[in-house]
Amino acid sequence: MLVKKAIFPVAGLGTRFLPATKAQPKEMLPVVDKPLIQYAVEEAYAAGVREMIFVTGRHKRPIEDHFDMTFELEVALEQAGKQELLEVVRSVKPDDMECIYVRQPQALGLGHAVLCGQRLVGNEPFAVLLADDLMVGQPPVLKQMVDRFSEWRASILAVQEVPLEHTRRYGIVDGTPVSNRLVDVNRIVEKPAPENAPSRLGVAGRYILTPGVFHEIASQPRGVGGEIQLTDGIAALLRREKVFAYRYEGKRYDCGSKEGFLEANIELALNHPALGSGFRTYLKGLSL
Ligand code: G1P
Repeated sequence: MLVKKAIFPVAGLGTRFLPATKAQPKEMLPVVDKPLIQYAVEEAYAAGVREMIFVTGRHKRPIEDHFDMTFELEVALEQAGKQELLEVVRSVKPDDMECIYVRQPQALGLGHAVLCGQRLVGNEPFAVLLADDLMVGQPPVLKQMVDRFSEWRASILAVQEVPLEHTRRYGIVDGTPVSNRLVDVNRIVEKPAPENAPSRLGVAGRYILTPGVFHEIASQPRGVGGEIQLTDGIAALLRREKVFAYRYEGKRYDCGSKEGFLEANIELALNHPALGSGFRTYLKGLSL
């Protein structure tokens, strides 16, 4: 297995979801019945990652608690004979999965957050997953990327076509197509205005990166928004190594926005094995 570690930057304040995120990390907001962060962790696990590195900040204890053992709860469920629920609780952290926490002392940007994981990652390729982007794919999107990585042994960024008027929300890449899903990147810009965007291929929150990127991030000045940007580190990496953009198969829900978060809840509820059909009937009955 080539990609064993993943970084989850979870130190952000989540101001877009206030007041819901006043005393609760945005990564713990549930989509149907699971917190956002658990979707990202499950996706990484399904891709073969076993070491989950969370870059946290103050007020993020609930994330650590979520992936910890809940002894009293397990005992209570066991005594009550609620085996199914016990399995649900235990499956949050499989025995062969390790969770490690490191603090990002100041919110200096995504690049800086990734750099906080450097010592734990060491000199090996690693994944970065942004929990705000809930990805639904079969196989899971990170697994698709790991498969490409085993073939090319170079950094891979998940991309999708974005509307021209949205280029300011994304890292935008440009490059030469290698196959119908893979692009050999020659340029990446963070959040360009539509008139400066080199293409409409926007980076979604999934990356597989070679460890060389740490050194590049560390020598970046502050970029867009006064923050140390991961995109700028990748732009510097491009000068030394190949980087590919991968058009993933699947759907991304931008759960960093209220609209995307609501869409995710509705669509995942419709596809939920236990809730789906009842919920569909309910929606149909709404006179919209
Ligand atoms: C970050 C990255 C951006 C990427 C986006 C994907 O931006 O900086 O390059 O396209 O995630 O969600 P953020 O959404 O954190 O502003």
